Amino acid sequence: MAGVQTVTGALWRRVQWWGSTCAKSAKPVKSRNATAMREYSRAGCGIRRRGRGSAGEEALGLARAEARRRGRSDIGFSVADAHALPFPDDTFDVVHAHQVLQHVGDPVLALREMRRVCRPGGIVAVRDSDYAAFTWFPEIPELDEWLDLYRRVARACGGEPDAGRRLLSWAHTAGFTDVSATSSTWCFATPEDRAWWGGMWAERVLKSDMARLALASGGATEGDLRRLSEGWRAWAGERDGWLSLLHGELICRV
Ligand SMILES: C[S@@+](CC[C@H](N)C(=O)[O-])C[C@H]1O[C@@H](n2cnc3c(N)ncnc32)[C@H](O)[C@@H]1O
Repeated sequence: MAGVQTVTGALWRRVQWWGSTCAKSAKPVKSRNATAMREYSRAGCGIRRRGRGSAGEEALGLARAEARRRGRSDIGFSVADAHALPFPDDTFDVVHAHQVLQHVGDPVLALREMRRVCRPGGIVAVRDSDYAAFTWFPEIPELDEWLDLYRRVARACGGEPDAGRRLLSWAHTAGFTDVSATSSTWCFATPEDRAWWGGMWAERVLKSDMARLALASGGATEGDLRRLSEGWRAWAGERDGWLSLLHGELICRV
C-alpha cells in the first residue's frame, strides 16, 4: 500500500514490548476501555507514516482491517490533532503516543491534552526517540551528514528530534507530578534488520517530506540526497553494520 508500511519482524517485537509495558502499568484501572486502549496502542504502534497526503486515513484503514481480522468490534479509530483532542475530559484509562511528541509543535500542550482526556487513576504513556543519541558502526560519513540534515529539517518543521531526553521536563511542565521515566534502545544488527532500517532511510532521504523540505530550504541538493541514500545502502550491506537507537519513555499517573 503506497505511503504506509507495516512494521514487521524484530522491530515489531520491540514495539510490542513497549505496548505490554504500558499495559502492565495500566492494570490497576479495570474497565473494558482499558483493554480496548491497550489493543489500540498496539495497532497504532505498528504503522509508520511515510510520504504525504491522506497517510493518516490510510494508516487507519490498515488499523481497522487489523481490528476486523482480530474480530474486535469494540475499538474505535479517528484522526485528530494532539494539540486539541476531540474527546471530553476523563474519557480514557490509557492515553498513549508512540514517536509522536517529537513531531508536534507544542509537546507540553499535547501532554496537557492527553492528561485532560485521561481518567483519574489512569496513565499517559509516551515514548520518543532521541536522534542525537543514535550511534552506529562502521563510521560512514554520509550517516553523520544524514543525522545533521534530519535534525535541521525536523526543527525547521517545528519538531524536536532529540525529544527522548526532554520528555520528563515536558511532562513536569505539563503538570504531571507522578512520573516514571525510563529509556530503552532498538538495535539493528542482523541482515534482516539492516535491510529494513537502512533500506527505509535510503528511500526516505530521496522521497519523503524530509527530502522535499531539505531541497526546498537549500539544506541539501539532489546530489547530496543521493549520496546520503547510498551511505544508508552501504551501511545496510555491511556484514558488521550495527546501529543503536535511544528512546526516552514515560509512564505518567493521572
Ligand atoms: C514517526 S510517526 C509514529 C507513528 C506510530 N505511532 C509509530 O510509532 O510507528 C509520527 C506520527 O505522529 C503523527 N503526528 C504528527 N503531528 C501530530 C499532531 N499534531 N497530532 C497528532 N499526530 C501527529 C503523524 O501523523 C505520524 O503518524
